[in-house]
Amino acid sequence: MQLLDGKFASEKIKQEIAADAADFLTKSGRKPHLVAILVGNDGGSETYVASKMKNCEKVGFLSSLIRYDVTVSEAELLEKIQEINRDVSVDGLIVQLPLPKHIDPEKVTETIDFQKDVDGFHPVNLGRMMRNLPCFIPATPYGILLMLEAYQVDTAGKHCVVVGRSNIVGSPMSILMARNANPGNCTVTLTHSRTTNLKELVLQADIVVAAIGKKNFVTADMVKPGAIIIDVGINRETSELTKSGYKLYGDVDFENVAPKSSWITPVPGGVGLMTIVGLLKNTLASAKGEVYK
Ligand code: GUN
Repeated sequence: MQLLDGKFASEKIKQEIAADAADFLTKSGRKPHLVAILVGNDGGSETYVASKMKNCEKVGFLSSLIRYDVTVSEAELLEKIQEINRDVSVDGLIVQLPLPKHIDPEKVTETIDFQKDVDGFHPVNLGRMMRNLPCFIPATPYGILLMLEAYQVDTAGKHCVVVGRSNIVGSPMSILMARNANPGNCTVTLTHSRTTNLKELVLQADIVVAAIGKKNFVTADMVKPGAIIIDVGINRETSELTKSGYKLYGDVDFENVAPKSSWITPVPGGVGLMTIVGLLKNTLASAKGEVYK
């Protein structure tokens, strides 16, 4: 078993991003600028957004956090998004999900200018991704591709089984792994909560992408010896054992699956760190006008 170490891979790529951002500053006189909107006080979202902002500073980007109370109206939020769309000093805009029930996430996603949609959630970016055109790829799937690339994992011709069909991870990941690209060129099976023979399918996988949001869902008896395991789960549980008061668990039973695998991502310290790298790379590409001229 070898570890796909998110800390190592993310630090290496962030150094490259920082060098690129410094070069961009010299040439343009400004820093890449990411704006994040956070509604409410969800514990997980607070942590993720804080980490995104901190990493922006680390690589020499400008970051702005706009906070709203959980009671903010949909209209007020959409108006703010339109204002940021018009602001030429902003390269990337993300609205942290989940949103409170009275706000339609689809409306929010579609209101963000697709040219600033560094989360890659807008239908234009997803459509362009399907067609292998320049676009912003959703940050988590992008981070996974960067991780596979960093460790030169050969994916061509392999059977990739994705567990979970979310808009953010499972669904785009299935498209990306099937693309004629490297990483990619996989035969892909997309499984989900209604899949009847899930264990049988996962047992056939050369690559498992676990993104179902259930602690220790993928167990050792479901995994073929030598499989590559990508664990996207970030399941937070309160814990008296840690300083922060909570502990993170993946979707994979790491302890028992790791010995059977060829490569595996840990939680924490795996895909989560790469998601931020995906976001930073999209923001830099936006600033440089590499995706949309
Ligand atoms: N919530 C969980 N993952 C994400 C993400 O990648 N982007 C945003 N905006 N919200 C999320």
